[in-house]
Amino acid sequence: MQNEKVALFIIFGGSGDLARRKLYPSLFRLYQKGYLKDHFAVVGTARRPWTNEYYHNIIKESLADLKPDDAQATAFADHFYYQSHDVTNTEHYVVLRDLAAKLDQKYQLNGNRIYYMAMSPRFFGVIVGHLKSEQILTDAGFNRLIIEKPFGHDFQSAKELNSEIRTSFSEDQIYRIDHYLGKEMVQNISAIRFGNNIIESLWNNRYIDNIQITLSESLGVEERAGYYETAGAMRDMVQNHISQIATLLAMEPPVSFSAEDIRNEKIKVLRSLHIDTIEEAKRNFVRGQYGAATIDGQQLDNYRDADQVATDSNTETFVAGKMEFENFRWSGVPFFVRTGKRLAQKATRVDIVFKQVPQNIFKAASDNDELAPNVLTIYIEPTEGFGLRANAKQIGQGYATRPVDLDFRHSARATANSPEAYERLLLDALNGDSTNFTHWDELAQTWRFADVIEQAWAQEPAADFPNYVSGSMGPKAADELLARDGAKWVFDPARPEIEN
Ligand SMILES: NC(=O)c1ccc[n+]([C@@H]2O[C@H](COP(=O)([O-])OP(=O)(O)OC[C@H]3O[C@@H](n4cnc5c(N)ncnc54)[C@H](OP(=O)(O)O)[C@@H]3O)[C@@H](O)[C@H]2O)c1
Repeated sequence: MQNEKVALFIIFGGSGDLARRKLYPSLFRLYQKGYLKDHFAVVGTARRPWTNEYYHNIIKESLADLKPDDAQATAFADHFYYQSHDVTNTEHYVVLRDLAAKLDQKYQLNGNRIYYMAMSPRFFGVIVGHLKSEQILTDAGFNRLIIEKPFGHDFQSAKELNSEIRTSFSEDQIYRIDHYLGKEMVQNISAIRFGNNIIESLWNNRYIDNIQITLSESLGVEERAGYYETAGAMRDMVQNHISQIATLLAMEPPVSFSAEDIRNEKIKVLRSLHIDTIEEAKRNFVRGQYGAATIDGQQLDNYRDADQVATDSNTETFVAGKMEFENFRWSGVPFFVRTGKRLAQKATRVDIVFKQVPQNIFKAASDNDELAPNVLTIYIEPTEGFGLRANAKQIGQGYATRPVDLDFRHSARATANSPEAYERLLLDALNGDSTNFTHWDELAQTWRFADVIEQAWAQEPAADFPNYVSGSMGPKAADELLARDGAKWVFDPARPEIEN
């Protein structure tokens, strides 16, 4: 087949949660679509002593939700090889090198290799060093490294990790995953902006009042408490996913839609991202931690009661804040961002709030003094689409106005067929397309930005934690933050929807 990709995947952490829940099903979808066919193989490594046979059963189990045809699942799983391997043991890499060479021959893989780091970041450096020293990297084909988040804990640790990786891989061989960049509607931000003159021509500080990015989760930290306790919402969501969405919203139109042109624009706009002083960070960012609540008869506990969480934990499960890009297009337009756990509703969305018309001529006719602002909403999750809130005349006598929503949502059938983020990103990596991965320069800047806020918070432990109840939209201070700039959150599940 013309589209068939040829590569050997070596997955470090092949028995882990990410591999089983995301990577194997995504590889299978690529197999079903013919991108992976005869010329691919996967080596899964981890310490536990599994046989190939056992591994094949794990692979097939991981596909259960896709309800595959039995014969197809077996044929797919036959391409998988398990190697018990401790990443700190040099001898194990020798075995891995021989196995990789054998599979290269057997499947005619032309020396093309993708190394996937699906395990704890503390091992990334040691693995990458061994890939080079034990000559697992090939000269013949491509060598691409896919790296999971978190990429560092702060700017300094990210820089050290990056230097370690760069001893074996060049920047263009490194694919840093931010799975939000693989989501359909995040990719659609560029289409909405650059494919619509009526939108792009208004996309600046003359017409836009503020931009709001919300990534709210209804679940608590669940089984990720151990990791979360050391990270918090700032590092887990704002430094990476939210900053990436803000960058796509703020960047200038690229010359073309090539990876290089887009990256250049992203890096350029990030250079204009205002890095707060400590004092500004204290004013511009609000942190929260969830407290107990009973919702629908279900008792939800405090974050501090979770396993592996300190009873006096200072870790934030909620962040709201203001980002600013200091350039001609965005000067004076706040980008309000918000993310948290145990919030009222699971949703990822962007609300672009436009400035008011210069004069409200309907004032006398309406009960309401204010016209509602126009809002363009990009729905990213759980439904995908976009909507525009506009003002229209209320039916009947007089000239009262009311807001109406023009709403477009992709159908459930269309989104069911849309590739999952990991599927998209794996195919991009096979194609050598780094558009939807994070460049080091982007990461460096977003870490510099996040570091100041972390430093501001480290100066003063949060005295009021827990400061929001589970099932709310976070602490009151998050509303006050916007009120200071004369704004309010557009997305508020407690507010009744507008009826069209
Ligand atoms: N899970 C997710 O949904 C998700 C989402 C985003 C990012 N991530 C990131 O993806 C990475 C993996 O996460 P995960 O949830 O899959 O973790 P996990 O379930 O704990 O898996 C860790 C894997 O590493 C292996 N391992 C641990 N120590 C090893 C060693 N010394 N030598 C060789 N293998 C070793 C484990 O197998 P053995 O114990 O058998 O060695 C296991 O296969 C992390 O960086 C995480 O932050 C995960």
